[in-house]
Amino acid sequence: MKKDDKAWLQCINCQAVYPLSYRGYICRECGDLLDVVLDLDRVDTRSWSIFKDRPKGVWRYRELIPVDSSKKVTLNEGGTPLIECSRLSKWVGLKKIYIKFEGANPTGSFKDRGMTVAVTKAVELKVKGVICASTGNTAASLAAYAARAGLPCITVIPQDAALGKVFQALAHGAVLVKVRGSFDQALRIVFSEAEEIGYYILNSVNAWRLEGQKTLGYELAEELGGEYSVFVPVGNCGNIAAIWKGLTELKNLGLIENTPKMFGVQAEGAAPFAKMVRENRDILDPIKDPQTIASAIRIGKPVNWKKALRAIRESRGDAVIVSDMEIREAQAAIARLEGLGVEPASAASVAGAKKMVEEGRISPDEVIVCICTGHLLKDPNPELFKPKALIEIEPGKQKLTHELSKLNILQLETTTH
Ligand code: F0G
Repeated sequence: MKKDDKAWLQCINCQAVYPLSYRGYICRECGDLLDVVLDLDRVDTRSWSIFKDRPKGVWRYRELIPVDSSKKVTLNEGGTPLIECSRLSKWVGLKKIYIKFEGANPTGSFKDRGMTVAVTKAVELKVKGVICASTGNTAASLAAYAARAGLPCITVIPQDAALGKVFQALAHGAVLVKVRGSFDQALRIVFSEAEEIGYYILNSVNAWRLEGQKTLGYELAEELGGEYSVFVPVGNCGNIAAIWKGLTELKNLGLIENTPKMFGVQAEGAAPFAKMVRENRDILDPIKDPQTIASAIRIGKPVNWKKALRAIRESRGDAVIVSDMEIREAQAAIARLEGLGVEPASAASVAGAKKMVEEGRISPDEVIVCICTGHLLKDPNPELFKPKALIEIEPGKQKLTHELSKLNILQLETTTH
């Protein structure tokens, strides 16, 4: 690395530095995670004005993303809606809730923010192909961006990955490998064999993924003034760390004064990280057989736990554990009170906020943002929702009005469930 470089890769443990051309994922010295580090003194963005006139999205912030943006592989990701949810706020018991609806990304999840940057980097590194292990969304997103870049792609997923995500990976032409086992086992396979086939790993252990996902933090900072807290569903621990990275960069650049507290939410049967935080431990105790209906975050050994722990401690946030039932109720409430369709893992953020209010751990006066990470259609499961009414009609023989009046539908009040 040259002294005058504007950015480099740096180990979060031993601080060893690597040039941006380094193709590895972890530190050669100590094996720990790497961060992309910007020399903020040399970044020419001391005011919001250079961003303001640009279209919303990840590349609005191109000066803060050290890849060649003239060669970006993009589907116009990011710039997702921040939606104030007054009916949901009442349900949760808080003054104000916003949902950052990441389901509005091109492939329906926040992963696209990371992929646009990391696949751009992959092309820059002239890799032969790309590979990931995934609970589903990473696979769907990587498959799409690889298709856009014309790169061969292999996705390795657990056998029970959600239908919508598998369908996306197939549609975009990825090789689909189903593992008879968990996400953690899929990731182990990818780590041990990617080098042999010469493919570049695009899991969130790859710091370039988080470099794209940090723009979620930039957007929150641009859209929200004042004090607020952020609730994030946590699986492999990458996204919460990425959002915090974005926010701290802006603080260090002097573009924002305050940073929010970060709250990580995990599901009861897959909560190694949240347990560690709650018990104030410094070492993660992995879980062998994680279980939850929120398949996206069914992870027992989160790779980025050290970065996520740093985010929670530095921001003076916390972690919260929710049950599958609480996740289902939150998913239904978001869908029926606000018209927003999110997948179960995403609803964990809202369930987590509700739980913290109930436990008296946050005040009802707080303003919070729930990151709803993926779209409802990713994980279609009609059994999870009790239909308000399901009517079948024989055309020409039955009248709709008659059937509705039989069920008293036209008199029904709007209800949550
Ligand atoms: N929400 C959704 C919808 C996800 O797909 C994921 C992760 C998360 C939250 C958690 O984010 O891992 O950065 O803590 N999905 C990964 C995948 C693991 O393979 O699609 P994280």
